[in-house]
Amino acid sequence: RVLSLFALMSLALTGCSGVDGFSVLKPKGTSGEMSLDMIKLALFIMLGVFAVVISIYIYVLIRYRKRKGKDVMPEQVHGNNVLEIVWTAIPIILLTILAIPTVKYTFNMSEIKASEDSLTVKVTGYQYWWEFQYPDLGIKTAQELHIPVGKKVNLIIEGKDVLHSFWVPALSGKVDVVPGRTNTLPLDAKEPGVYQGKCAELCGAGHALMDFKVIAQEESDFNKWVAQMQQPSTVQTAQQKQGEALFNQNCLGCHAGTNKNIKGPDLTKFGTRSTIAGILPHDEENLKKWLKDPTAVKPGAQMPKIDYLEPQEMEALVEYLMSRK
Ligand code: CUA
Repeated sequence: RVLSLFALMSLALTGCSGVDGFSVLKPKGTSGEMSLDMIKLALFIMLGVFAVVISIYIYVLIRYRKRKGKDVMPEQVHGNNVLEIVWTAIPIILLTILAIPTVKYTFNMSEIKASEDSLTVKVTGYQYWWEFQYPDLGIKTAQELHIPVGKKVNLIIEGKDVLHSFWVPALSGKVDVVPGRTNTLPLDAKEPGVYQGKCAELCGAGHALMDFKVIAQEESDFNKWVAQMQQPSTVQTAQQKQGEALFNQNCLGCHAGTNKNIKGPDLTKFGTRSTIAGILPHDEENLKKWLKDPTAVKPGAQMPKIDYLEPQEMEALVEYLMSRK
């Protein structure tokens, strides 16, 4: 039973280590490496404390056990100044050992943030999706944050509705997303790859599925992506034209931000994404499934059902969305 408990604990610590690019214990960025160093130091100190306390406990159990024929009450002690000073001083020393690197890393983090050539991305958390804006590049996207490998990225994080928490376990620690407040998170990725991100603050029915991805690319690939994002998509076929008209009628209000009450993700380059709503594989079947009943896929999603279109109209809408590359 103890073994299975440890297995469960290690699973919790790795955050489901089976998923690639989703482990605190395999950091792929400067900030994540700092966190892991701190985890190791804290674990090392805790194991030391555990060993000492358990040793004293076992010693006392054996040394002062009830023996046969000895029925007198042992001497009762009330207060011991030396002992009390010792067990106050030891935690102070241990906490100081923990505090020094914590403060050091905190200042190192702000150095990452301050570096000259860093890329700024504005992150906004909504129920239940993420918006990523690149103010210097004129790009806006959702659910997938593209970053160049090796470059410092300065995230400016805001919330629009309730509390969320931005977390990419392999790259960095969590940052609270608080409406009305701006938080920042400097991070970088040392290797190209897709790193899984999660909302780490209970924010409603769709919280568990408020996923996103960080796609770290070599600088040249990142620049290609930027160029593609900056290039307007064209509508080619008659079917795509019909889809565009349907999109403008049914979706544009929320997805272009003209509806003040409800805001949906920007879909300008929807065809380039790798997931639908941040969770489903990006294909036409899943897109139809999502459009027809969003809350069946992601509970609490604010998007209304688009279940009133003729099958042929649905085909056109899907075709149009997928063509936006
Ligand atoms: Cu957003 Cu949990």
